[in-house]
Amino acid sequence: MRPHLPATTPRPGASNPTQPWAGMPESVPAAVAEYFEGGGDTGQTVRLNEAAWKRWSLQPRVFRDVSVIDTAVDLFGIQMHNPMLVAPMASLSKLHIDGEVECATGARAAGVTMCLTSGSAQEVEAVGRAGGAFLQQLYLWPDRERIRPFLERAAAAGAVGFVLTVDSPPQAAHYGFRGRVAGLPRVHSPHFPDGVPPSGSPADLSCEDISWLRRVGGLPVIVKGVQHPDDAVAAVQAGAAGVVVSNHGGRQSDGCLTTAEVLPEVAAAVGGRVPILVDGGIRSGEDIVRALALGANAILIGRPVARALAGGGAVAVTHLLTELQQAMCAQLALCGVRSVRDVSRDLVRWREWG
Ligand code: FNR
Repeated sequence: MRPHLPATTPRPGASNPTQPWAGMPESVPAAVAEYFEGGGDTGQTVRLNEAAWKRWSLQPRVFRDVSVIDTAVDLFGIQMHNPMLVAPMASLSKLHIDGEVECATGARAAGVTMCLTSGSAQEVEAVGRAGGAFLQQLYLWPDRERIRPFLERAAAAGAVGFVLTVDSPPQAAHYGFRGRVAGLPRVHSPHFPDGVPPSGSPADLSCEDISWLRRVGGLPVIVKGVQHPDDAVAAVQAGAAGVVVSNHGGRQSDGCLTTAEVLPEVAAAVGGRVPILVDGGIRSGEDIVRALALGANAILIGRPVARALAGGGAVAVTHLLTELQQAMCAQLALCGVRSVRDVSRDLVRWREWG
């Protein structure tokens, strides 16, 4: 079975027992479902993120031995079975009582690495035990030093890299999806004073924060939320070990370019100096192959994982991620590509129509 996840709509496919990631289950309260599915302002970027991957048409090759497909990648010192990670998502505990631990358990069973949000309701140590090596996402407070204890705690729990999200200035807190979910009770995060994690970037965030975090955190820093090639280059020059091309799943600036559009120019500018990851609307094996062809070394999946977690816990998360891997492998074979590291740019072409 090759999953073709439906475009994001409020609750399509809810309660679909064979594809619990197709929509948010009816049991999830409306405000919570809206928090997970929603985007900034009109939601245009959420929809276009998904649609844009389909504009890249594949041009398969034949006469190639595809009896064995190699999906392994080595990223930030993690030997990954496949080029796929779970995207950091705050508030998973609103979907499942064991939120992040359940998600990490399901991801690990599928051989997928988790990027843990700093907005986790569960102890980072418990998530590390459940999921193995993981990446720790975080934001910074205006007083940068306040994050130090958390860096130490996450590293001790098994984090192998810090993912610094840079696309959420303070204005994001009152705009788009966050405005609409203002009534949702906050998740209490055990790692931060008063249970409140930093939930966005300081207004004066700069590349110096990357070098600072690298220095005090002692782990590779991966910068998430880059959409412009010049910003990617600046991040690399400041010491970033990787860049995540992301518009936060369309949850921040509405109306921006899709990640499928900007990925090729960011990849060209970075020129292989560091790995490039991408997320936003990736929903099928074809989409993953498209992203690899456009220059990504790995991809992240967000909302489908949340829906799976809500619909069937760890088992459903494993099911989703396993099916996506199988679909990716099938698509690589169909395209005549033996390894995820051999997917080349000439495998895709931008379709001018439809
Ligand atoms: C997110 N995202 C996110 N990103 C981040 O860096 N820190 C965070 O805490 C969160 N929280 C969060 C909550 C929810 C409910 C969603 C849906 C998303 C963004 C996320 O990491 C990722 O960039 C997008 O979700 C990827 O797009 P898709 O796969 O959901 O389309």
